[in-house]
Amino acid sequence: MKIIAPSMLSSDFGRLLDEIELINKSNADWFHLDVMDGVFVPNITFGSPVLDIFKNYAKKPLDIHLMIVSPENYIDKFSSYNPDIITIHLEAVKDVGAVLKKVKNLNIKAGLAINPDTPIKHLEPHINEIDMVCLMGVFPGFSGQKFIKETNSRLRDLKNLIKSKKSKVLIQIDGGVDLNNAKELSRLGADILVSGSCIFKSKNPNTIIDSLKKESNV
Ligand code: DX5
Ligand code: ZN
Repeated sequence: MKIIAPSMLSSDFGRLLDEIELINKSNADWFHLDVMDGVFVPNITFGSPVLDIFKNYAKKPLDIHLMIVSPENYIDKFSSYNPDIITIHLEAVKDVGAVLKKVKNLNIKAGLAINPDTPIKHLEPHINEIDMVCLMGVFPGFSGQKFIKETNSRLRDLKNLIKSKKSKVLIQIDGGVDLNNAKELSRLGADILVSGSCIFKSKNPNTIIDSLKKESNV
């Protein structure tokens, strides 16, 4: 069974507690939380007050995806929301290893996200230090974007890299994941599927979550 992580960015923030409860009661596995700073990406989303709500009401692991510059300055703060995993972007920091270490020293799993135009080989120095690679299926910044097809061949390359390094790292695909590509991505080796608009723009999010689970069961 693959892990399904709904991206809460696509949920209705006017009814946030209901949306959290929907995921609590669903067959989804994690809460994917997209933090954007308007500098690393051309969009600003949410920070502390909203993350506090997830800390208090979400009953499944929190997967915090940081699309911010200088994440090292905020790791302590983000750790206070008790996340299971904190993901930083390879492109956002100079000393990637030091930031990953900072996350792991707090007993939080460390994820490393990679943009669609960053070569997969740039992950090589870190592949045995991290718990998860977040392979972006779109350029980060917005939900509801079209999946970039080349992600499939990048996923194959990533799989090969992981194999050659005998790494146990999990692969997350984030951006543009829906019922059209969930099966293929899972077959190619994705472990975690993030999905936002496909779930929350549906009239029946639970049906979509169940279908994503089913499709990904390869
Ligand atoms: C993109 C975010 C994604 C996005 C997913 O910058 O990191 O998590 O919200 O939403 P969909 O599934 O609509 O692409
Ligand atoms: Zn994300």
